[in-house]
Amino acid sequence: MNDLKQKILTRVEGDLAEIENALTNNLRPHLDLVAKTAKHILFSGGKRLRPLLMVLSARLCGYQGEYDKTFSCVFEYLHAATLLHDDLVDGAEFRRGRPVAHAKWGNAVAVLTGDYLLARALSIASETGSLKSIKIIAEITESMSQGEIQQLINKGDLNLTEADYIEVIYRKTAVLMEGACRVGAILAGAPDREEQALSDYGRQLGLAFQMIDDLLDYTADTDELGKKVGADLREGKLTLPLIYAYSKAGGDDRVFIERILVQKNFSVQAFEKVIILLKKYNGLEYTRQAAAQRVSAAKNALSVFGASDTKALLLDIADYALVRKS
Ligand code: IPE
Ligand code: IPE
Ligand code: MG
Ligand code: MG
Repeated sequence: MNDLKQKILTRVEGDLAEIENALTNNLRPHLDLVAKTAKHILFSGGKRLRPLLMVLSARLCGYQGEYDKTFSCVFEYLHAATLLHDDLVDGAEFRRGRPVAHAKWGNAVAVLTGDYLLARALSIASETGSLKSIKIIAEITESMSQGEIQQLINKGDLNLTEADYIEVIYRKTAVLMEGACRVGAILAGAPDREEQALSDYGRQLGLAFQMIDDLLDYTADTDELGKKVGADLREGKLTLPLIYAYSKAGGDDRVFIERILVQKNFSVQAFEKVIILLKKYNGLEYTRQAAAQRVSAAKNALSVFGASDTKALLLDIADYALVRKS
């Protein structure tokens, strides 16, 4: 484990333990099968980034109540629901080093358990009585589902621009982190300026987080990542490393990329050649730099807050998004 991750984990140990308890206590399905499927996705080593962002955002805005851990479940349940659906849509085989839920219980059970988790999230949100938060949370789901659908529509489209890509990753990933941070501020009754700052932080962090996810899909080690490397390319999903490299490639290299994008089963050697091309045309470094810019923007957004341990943690979490390996 890298040092930064360790440094963050030691400071959030207590919060993570409480989040873990809240996730167990608030699940409450009455069917065994739903419990099993939901637990498979919920308790298999997720980083808990989204609930943590909500809890820390509330704390940064001075929240001292006891409802934050319960409310933070909303963001992990939403995340888990979208992962159940996403793995099915993406035809994934592994997540967190384990077989995906739909491989174990079938597509129907995976989709319906995702729906259950989504509804659970909204139900917990409604207990706050904060219409503003409920609306934000419902809009997150609207946005994420359409982000995933836009991504499906975009598959195999080599005319895709960086702006098209940003639009998709904003909707499918950044909106949830933005919402988690914003709702944390709302729970604390923060002034607009702080709510806006935390929204900006969450959005920029979310964009960087997905860029690095897309980078890791090319560069990571499958065992360490817990997901199968090369999955995006195998699906014909164009992400920033390839979009950028393709925009710079010429001649045979361009043709090679066009051909591999429509192949479901390419060889290890062909994948290695893609990596070589991504390096040759700077696609990997360009993506890393784009993510680094978002991380800087995320950190800058917090400048409205004075120095505190919580702020320092949020700044470290932003840096971690860049160096994470899984
Ligand atoms: C995976 O998110 C989905 C993306 C938005 C890239 P995480 O990497 O936060 O997933 P877990 O919950 O920690 O496994
Ligand atoms: C993020 O995109 C998925 C969601 C936001 C639901 P990916 O499809 O890249 O996520 P992984 O790689 O499967 O975790
Ligand atoms: Mg996926
Ligand atoms: Mg991915």
